[in-house]
Amino acid sequence: MTFEFSEKANQIKEGIFAVLNTKKNEMEAHGKKTYNLSVGTPDFKPAPHIMEAVSEAAKDPKNYKYALTELPELIEAMQNFYKRRFDVELAADEIMSLYGSQEGMAHLAWALCNPGDLVLVPNPGYQIFRIGPQLCDAKVWQYPLLEENNFLPILSKIPEDVAKQAKYMVVSYPANPICRTAPESFYRELIAFAKKYNIIILHDNAYSDIVYGGRKGGSFLQYEGAKEVGIEFYSLSKSFNYTGARMSFAVGNREIVQKFRALRTQFDYGTFLPVQYGAAAALNGPFDGVEKQCQLYEERNHVLCGGLREIGWNVPDSEGTMFVWAPLPEGYTNSEEFCVELMERSGVICVPGSSFGSLGEGYVRMALVLPPEELKKAVESIRVSGILKK
Ligand SMILES: Cc1ncc(COP(=O)(O)O)c(C=O)c1O
Repeated sequence: MTFEFSEKANQIKEGIFAVLNTKKNEMEAHGKKTYNLSVGTPDFKPAPHIMEAVSEAAKDPKNYKYALTELPELIEAMQNFYKRRFDVELAADEIMSLYGSQEGMAHLAWALCNPGDLVLVPNPGYQIFRIGPQLCDAKVWQYPLLEENNFLPILSKIPEDVAKQAKYMVVSYPANPICRTAPESFYRELIAFAKKYNIIILHDNAYSDIVYGGRKGGSFLQYEGAKEVGIEFYSLSKSFNYTGARMSFAVGNREIVQKFRALRTQFDYGTFLPVQYGAAAALNGPFDGVEKQCQLYEERNHVLCGGLREIGWNVPDSEGTMFVWAPLPEGYTNSEEFCVELMERSGVICVPGSSFGSLGEGYVRMALVLPPEELKKAVESIRVSGILKK
């Protein structure tokens, strides 16, 4: 039998990740040490009170029914958390949970776009920002994030006809993969731009709790007028190491939240109740563990970037996120080829910048998912490999 798959399915390729994974398995099978800095999954553990809440709830057979919707205590926990953490007031109907921000990003365009509608996404950017709209037949216009502009979009340079057509715009700081934060003035400009052209803003706030240099990450909703123009995704994945439990929230504009909620009822019967109890425990619980973890990421950031600079690779420190965005060392121009060579010669695995969009070429992304001692060994392995001496 021959199968004919959809054009959309055929367009999605495993690409470089599959290549890197196969090579990693081969190297490990030959006893070669690898340092996997490619995955964005935290190696830190969830706090004990979170795991206890999940385990307790998992013992109760009642909690195995379809949840259908959020527990009232989860919504209340999110309201209290946003007030405490960001000083943002949220009404209960301005909040909905998602099966992770990734899922939310994949489906949001279904609620906002007709086929052919235009969505503005960053280049380089997290892949699902672009793939989500494309999966529901919207078009994307990629706004450039360039080093000379501090990796911020220049809103006045987005052509007038593009801005007029745009249905929504995805913005995300602290940003994966470019590891920069955005100043307050940017958010004010963004809201004015959204109002002028009637563009919905989706702010992905996955890394608000991982910001370095003594600064604290904020929320898009802290800015005047934000709720009139858009929503924010807040994920428990990175802040609370709740990654595999899959829990994030869309919060903000009531009309958007309600339309999205109605659409999602068609395919979502609610998140497993023990996961909801665990999320409520995370949001209601102490925050000092999250702050301590941010300091540990910052230490890793200094160890990795500082170590690489010492051996002659000029990598700037990240401003936030759990990643490092490294320009290719001198003499290299192709990030995929460099990643394969780096892995073969040093065992260090990172992600080619080109997988985040055309403007990611010339960079690689490394995840801060190993403790400082291991990162030092990774740096040493890069040094002895001689790869920097091209
Ligand atoms: C920018 C960004 N948004 C969203 C996500 C996914 O978050 P979640 O685990 O809530 O799906 C990630 C994960 O790496 C990310 O980097």
